Amino acid sequence: MVTGAAGFVGSHVADAFALAGHEVVAVDAPARSLAPDVARRTFDEVAARPGVRAVPADLAMDDLSAVAAADVVVHLAGRPGVRSSWGAGRAAAERDNVLATRRLLAACAARPARLRPLVIIASSSSVYGSAGHRPNREDDPLNPASPYAASKVEVERLAALAARDGLRTVLLRYFSVYGPRQRPDMAFHRFVEAALDGRPLPVFGDGRRSRSFTHVRDVVAATLAAAGADLPAGIAVNVGHHEPVAVRSAIGLLTGVLGVRPEIQREAPVAGDAARTWADTGRAARLLGWTARTGLAEGLADQIAWHRALRAQEVPA
Ligand SMILES: NC(=O)c1ccc[n+]([C@@H]2O[C@H](COP(=O)([O-])OP(=O)(O)OC[C@H]3O[C@@H](n4cnc5c(N)ncnc54)[C@H](O)[C@@H]3O)[C@@H](O)[C@H]2O)c1
Repeated sequence: MVTGAAGFVGSHVADAFALAGHEVVAVDAPARSLAPDVARRTFDEVAARPGVRAVPADLAMDDLSAVAAADVVVHLAGRPGVRSSWGAGRAAAERDNVLATRRLLAACAARPARLRPLVIIASSSSVYGSAGHRPNREDDPLNPASPYAASKVEVERLAALAARDGLRTVLLRYFSVYGPRQRPDMAFHRFVEAALDGRPLPVFGDGRRSRSFTHVRDVVAATLAAAGADLPAGIAVNVGHHEPVAVRSAIGLLTGVLGVRPEIQREAPVAGDAARTWADTGRAARLLGWTARTGLAEGLADQIAWHRALRAQEVPA
């Protein structure tokens, strides 16, 4: 079962499990997405794949006893994003991250012991706050600086409690994921769309922030590896590229691939946005045999190709 299967990461994970020959129950409530129309379309596409059964369900509200009947649950549903979690978004982060996860874990724990699934849960690099002069390791103190990050810390606490209660939970701390189907609110999506429209690129802050940008193909590989590994219950694993890149360097790569030199439109920095995220990937390498393979130039070319293909489809015949 993949929750959030109408979303950016979840749709890729659902596709990958189905391609590997698994039966996939794809769960989502597209109306809860930051981009409901995109999620509805993606859910239809995922549902059409051989081996996938799409089940619309709101994890914060609906009866989950049937959907929890899987041997592996990959829980990617939720309300992502630091920026959208301030103000009115705080309640959504609380509902779709914390309450949804609490209910899902309870439904999984309620199954007879031998039928309880392995539950892999998306967490986030934002739980660390800003990285210092070395990459963040999983046992570093958590330092959430936004309602979104705080909701993920709470999700992690729920996963640890469930592990103590006998449920096998694994937390994957994803770092700035990009690639085809990236969410419309995310930086590269906004940059590519602006550049293709001939508009200035909307950049929050001065572009010096750096990120362990991680291609969704690598994120999928780590997630599938976690589903097949025998990991200690409750463990957290960083899933991020080992080399952080400054946003302005990423813009240089992106505009190089696009062959344009757009203007930059600076916008106020987002409160709670880490100055730097930087993944230590030693644990992922040791326990999952995983390391990110996609470099940023190659990965951005991939995402740009997707934007172009989408635009070509949308041009009326
Ligand atoms: N994309 C990233 O860079 C990134 C980084 C770190 C962590 N994460 C985490 O990974 C997960 C997936 O992120 P994404 O970028 O694919 O987000 P996304 O918004 O594209 O996908 C999330 C999906 O969850 C669904 N959803 C929300 N609330 C729901 C509910 N109550 N019941 C059922 N479905 C619900 C939404 O409809 C959406 O389709 C999230 O938990 C996010 O916090 C993502």
